[in-house]
Amino acid sequence: MISEPLRNPLSLFDVKDKVAIVTGASGTFGRATALALTALGGKVLLASGSERELEEVANEVRELGGSPATVVRRPDSQADAEAMLDSALATFGRVDQLVVASGYNKPGFIHELTYEDWQAVMDANVRGIWFMAKAVGTYWIEKKVRGKVVVMSSVRGRHGNYSGYTGYCASKGATDSLTRVLATEWAKYGITVNAIAPTVFRSKLTAWMYGDNELGQQTRARSLSRIPLGRLGEVEDLIGMAIYLLSPASDFCTGQVMYVDGGYTAG
Ligand SMILES: NC(=O)c1ccc[n+]([C@@H]2O[C@H](COP(=O)([O-])OP(=O)(O)OC[C@H]3O[C@@H](n4cnc5c(N)ncnc54)[C@H](OP(=O)(O)O)[C@@H]3O)[C@@H](O)[C@H]2O)c1
Repeated sequence: MISEPLRNPLSLFDVKDKVAIVTGASGTFGRATALALTALGGKVLLASGSERELEEVANEVRELGGSPATVVRRPDSQADAEAMLDSALATFGRVDQLVVASGYNKPGFIHELTYEDWQAVMDANVRGIWFMAKAVGTYWIEKKVRGKVVVMSSVRGRHGNYSGYTGYCASKGATDSLTRVLATEWAKYGITVNAIAPTVFRSKLTAWMYGDNELGQQTRARSLSRIPLGRLGEVEDLIGMAIYLLSPASDFCTGQVMYVDGGYTAG
């Protein structure tokens, strides 16, 4: 007998009517994921700290036929994370997916940086995941929802270069570790937790590499020289992986750091 997924493999990627919380929704990856989920019939709660930019993304979601909820907050505290969850539940009545796409970098050599600079990167990239996972995971365990978490790591979680990334590399290494621990902790509930680890992608975060900034140009060129596929990433390159990890297609995949890097980590 031919099973349903073999007869209709696209059904594995069905996210219709699923509800996602997306942090960093005003950002490049958050926006793209929210739009792609909407285009596939999903529902989205958009969260970020910039009201105007969030509204622009909300309008794009509406343009695709969605009716988003919005929360003008970053995941800076447990109260922020609870507020996002509460708003999603109030609007849609459920939450199925969590996408933590908020993040930050402050490149600089350690002798030039302050402890506060380092801590700000760790807070944005690690603490935010912890708050969101605690809020949404607690709800999922209580309600017996087999939820799906996608967080944003980076090839920097594995590679120390470039210099000037003490905070960022450490934060992404911690992200990888958090992904693995949460995945094993929640496996018994059927909740999957995975990270996407890109190389350099064009985004607001990397805009400094695409302008006149000399260090930025060097960093971009150095990265490009190590990518076998011969180009840097564009946000559309991440969407296939995001939908895979947020859909039933990935039900047997958890605790993984998925590199979308043009072969960077293979070399
Ligand atoms: N682009 C790349 O090359 C690349 C490569 C590897 C990994 N990543 C990772 O992918 C994720 C998304 O990056 P992106 O390229 O989409 O960046 P982006 O376009 O700059 O978006 C980042 C988002 O995070 C929010 N944010 C900024 N500073 C924050 C802070 N201090 N605390 C909490 N939220 C903050 C911003 O929203 P508000 O300012 O509105 O709050 C924005 O929506 C990040 O974790 C990043 O490290 C990116």
